[in-house]
Order: sequence, then structure tokens, then C-alpha cells
Amino acid sequence: MKATVNVGLGVRSYDILIGNGLLDRADHCIAPVLAGRPPIIITDETVAKTQLPRLQSAFGNEARTIILPAGEGTKSWLQLERLIDALLDLGVERKDKIIALGGGVIGDLVGFAASILKRGCGFIQVPTTLLAQVDSSVGGKTAINVRAGKNLVGSFHQPALVVIDPTVLETLPDRQMRAGYAEVVKYGLINDADFFAWCETHAAKILAREPHALVKAIEHSVRAKAKIVAADERETEDHRALLNLGHTFGHALEAETGFSDVLLHGEGVAAGMALAHAYSARIGHLTAEDAQRVTNHLASVGLPVSAQDAHVQASGQRLVEHMLHDKKMSGGKLPYILSKGIGRAYVDHNVMIDDVAAFLDGIAR
Ligand code: NAD
Ligand code: GLY
Repeated sequence: MKATVNVGLGVRSYDILIGNGLLDRADHCIAPVLAGRPPIIITDETVAKTQLPRLQSAFGNEARTIILPAGEGTKSWLQLERLIDALLDLGVERKDKIIALGGGVIGDLVGFAASILKRGCGFIQVPTTLLAQVDSSVGGKTAINVRAGKNLVGSFHQPALVVIDPTVLETLPDRQMRAGYAEVVKYGLINDADFFAWCETHAAKILAREPHALVKAIEHSVRAKAKIVAADERETEDHRALLNLGHTFGHALEAETGFSDVLLHGEGVAAGMALAHAYSARIGHLTAEDAQRVTNHLASVGLPVSAQDAHVQASGQRLVEHMLHDKKMSGGKLPYILSKGIGRAYVDHNVMIDDVAAFLDGIAR
């Protein structure tokens, strides 16, 4: 075992276990939480081929499995209904803890299903993408996408346990690794300038899955996220909102590309973080040098840093219209996560949307 991080939420507190090979030792780390109930593993078709056999054999092949299609389209009413029916057919009980083995798509869908099944059963996150390991598996945000937009139907439902085995990333495509890495960098940019500097010097090792650098990046990220979630579980203050750094600009780019493989979520966050820092410099809150430093680092690992890099040709006006559908809109205003320095992100409630549109027209195309 490398590390245990606790998410301190009173009766909803839980551990995040991080260690190479944990997947093969699920009989030790997950079985005790199942309290004698048979394991039910939900995964997608890709992870079923690559990582599911490890988890199944750790349970002596007694686990029952539900395998869903891979991809963002699985976060849908249709797949939610199928999943819930399949779980009911397996006789799932309220005290059960179903296991989500996969990336953010499986984690978000299974977490939402768990939150409504029999008025709420338990679940365990076993994240298999870097993005899910450092972000989506922790914190209890669950959701599906609906016709009106992404993640618009969901709940806060904390897992009972998160098991992170970095060795599962050996089969993850490099592009998905880079997309997840954007969320690692995010923690440095939010409130930890030293961690950002460490990322600048260790990015290549992390992306090459060098064990020491990878485990450190994951552990540091989940500690940062656990702290923020414990302080503001339901994002009722400006604290958890900081985790949305890069997401407002990124969401507009993702919406323009139809939330498709043209632009992965983490890639949208990377371009969004570069744009949020460039915009902060435009309004005089950040130095141009710091904004450029952020752009340089993200670009150096092959992440997009502009609308053009993200294959988006839309006008600034069109992009801000996407932003206005953001679920963070409150009283007709959209809070932006901007920066006053590397590691000094803040929530700005006074951004003028027309100015954002002009900024995007000026630099992003
Ligand atoms: P994903 O779950 O679609 O996984 C990406 C691809 O990698 C899929 O094709 C999957 O089958 C494949 N894959 C997963 N693990 C693999 C492995 N070990 N080896 C080989 N292939 C593997 O995408 P994601 O980037 O993990 O998650 C994106 C989703 O997460 C979005 O829906 C986003 O909204 C959500 N999200 C949620 C939160 C949250 O707090 N709940 C935070 C960030 C993102
Ligand atoms: N990924 C943003 C959050 O968990 O709040």
C-alpha cells in the first residue's frame, strides 16, 4: 500500500486507497467493505477487455458483472434505465455497495444509479483513467447527460471507498493520459504554486507512467481534492467552485464540438485553463508572463491551449452563449474562475460577458 487519504465528511467520510497492484488484491481492500455480499462490478466494454479480468480473478471469479458501451453516450437515460433494471434483476439490496470500474463516464453513471436505487445504495469507485483517479472518483458528484445539456441531471452521492491502482493506466491510450494530466495541473494552478512547478519538471515522467512520479501526482491531487470537498461538499461556497478552473471556457469549447471525441473533457479543461489565465491577464489581474507560463506548460505536453487548437471556429458571441447554459449560472450571472498568480485562483462574480466574447474574438481564432 502506498497511501490512504481520508475524505472527512462526518458520517459520509471514506478512504481513498492508492497503490500499485491494488486491483489484484481486491479480496483484501474491497471485500471487507462489501461485508459478505457478493460483488457486482459495472464497467464498460473497453475496460472489460483490459482491466476487468484482474478484478474478477481477485474475487475468485464470484463477481457478477454488468458491461455497458464505452463513451460519453453511456451517461444517458437509456443506459441508466438498463443499468438499474440489470441491478434489480441481480437482486441488489440497499446495503450493497456496487463497484464502478472505469473512467468518469462509468463512475458518474454508477454513482447516480446508486443514489436513486432503492432510495440510495452504496458504491465503490475503482477509477481506471487518470482523469477519474485524480478528479471524478472523489467528491460524490454524479450525473447523466440529457437533451438540454451535459451533467444536468445528477446528485451528490459519496462513494463508500475509492481504490486507485495506477498500474491500470498502462493500457490507457496516451491521449487519455494527457487529458487526465490537465486535471493534475489544475490543482497546482488553483492554490499550489510549488506543485505547478513540480508538474513543469515531472510532466514527461508522469505521462510515461514512471511509477514514482505517477503515484506522487495522483496522491497530491486527491489530497488536494479531498481537502476542498471536505470544506465545501455541495459547492455552496466559492471553495469547491475553484475546482471548476478552466471549465467555463472549456465547457463552451466542448459544447461547440458536441461533447465528442473531437475534444476530450480534459483537453477542454486544458484550453479553458489557458484561456482563463489569458483573460485574467487581459483584465490586469495576472501578469502576461504568468499567463504565458501556463500556456507554455500545457502546450509543451501536447494539450490544446486555444479554441483553434480545440478545432473550434465559432465566434466569441457563440461561445459565451454556450457558457450561459452553464449550471453554475445564478441570478443571471456566471461566476468565472480566474487567477491572480500561479496557484492563486479565485472566483470572479463581476466578469462582463461581452468582454469575454470580445477577448475570444481577439485571441482565440
Ligand atoms: P471515459 O470514462 O469515457 O474513459 C475514456 C476512455 O478510456 C473510454 O473509452 C474508456 O473505455 C477507456 N478506458 C478507461 N480506462 C481504461 C484503461 N485503463 N485502459 C484502456 N482504456 C480505458 O472518460 P474520462 O475522461 O475518464 O471521464 C470523463 C467523464 O467524467 C465526463 O463525462 C465528465 O463529465 C466526467 N467528470 C466527472 C467529474 C466528477 O466530479 N464527477 C469530474 C470530471 C469529469
Ligand atoms: N470536478 C469538479 C468537482 O468535483 O467539483
